[in-house]
Amino acid sequence: MLMLGRFRRWFFAKCLLPGASARHELLVAAQKRKLFAGLRPSDTVVELGPGTGPNFTYFPAGVRWIGVEPNPHLEHGLRKAGHSEIHTGIATVPSGIADVVVCTLVLCSVHDVAAILAEVRRVLKPGGVFYFLEHVAAPEGSGRRRTQRRVRGVWRWFGNGCDLCREPAMELLRAGFLDVQVEAFEVAELGPAAPHIVGTARN
Ligand SMILES: C[S@@+](CC[C@H](N)C(=O)[O-])C[C@H]1O[C@@H](n2cnc3c(N)ncnc32)[C@H](O)[C@@H]1O
Repeated sequence: MLMLGRFRRWFFAKCLLPGASARHELLVAAQKRKLFAGLRPSDTVVELGPGTGPNFTYFPAGVRWIGVEPNPHLEHGLRKAGHSEIHTGIATVPSGIADVVVCTLVLCSVHDVAAILAEVRRVLKPGGVFYFLEHVAAPEGSGRRRTQRRVRGVWRWFGNGCDLCREPAMELLRAGFLDVQVEAFEVAELGPAAPHIVGTARN
């Protein structure tokens, strides 16, 4: 079981994520440019699950970047690329350190969304902003939601725990963020992962 978990993390980091991230990046670049336009060079940015690092291109020069990357293969790649402030879990990130927390395509694969969002609020300064872009569950009763349910198991295995049927916007409201701004959009090319949300929430 342990070996299988290690293999999945390796397979995801080395074989699946680099191609998938690059493809996804092309499809959501416009939304990301708009989302991250508010970042300032003086910001301390904590990024959850940076993976192969597709978001670096949107951050202004000068930001202090702190990553939270539990997959050792991805963590190694980020260190090799020169990023040294990396935690393997958010629990060790100091409280109230971040002006901004960034999270793209991560809430689909964390074990406990509510617990992670509570941690996001802990590491954000008062008034700090959570920036997110996630694929989400299709509306209940839709054909796409039925497809998501059908392929969920296989998707989860190959996607290292990625769940197609999550509704993170509801969790954000429950977590007590203020001024939650959510925009829904579709990336049709992504089939069952087409429904997306992008937005911000203030601590
Ligand atoms: C689908 S990848 C997304 C990578 C990148 N953010 C992107 O937009 O391409 C999901 C990432 O979340 C990370 N992850 C999974 N659980 C996590 C957790 N509890 N805390 C932080 N990162 C997590 C994975 O290791 C992986 O890097």
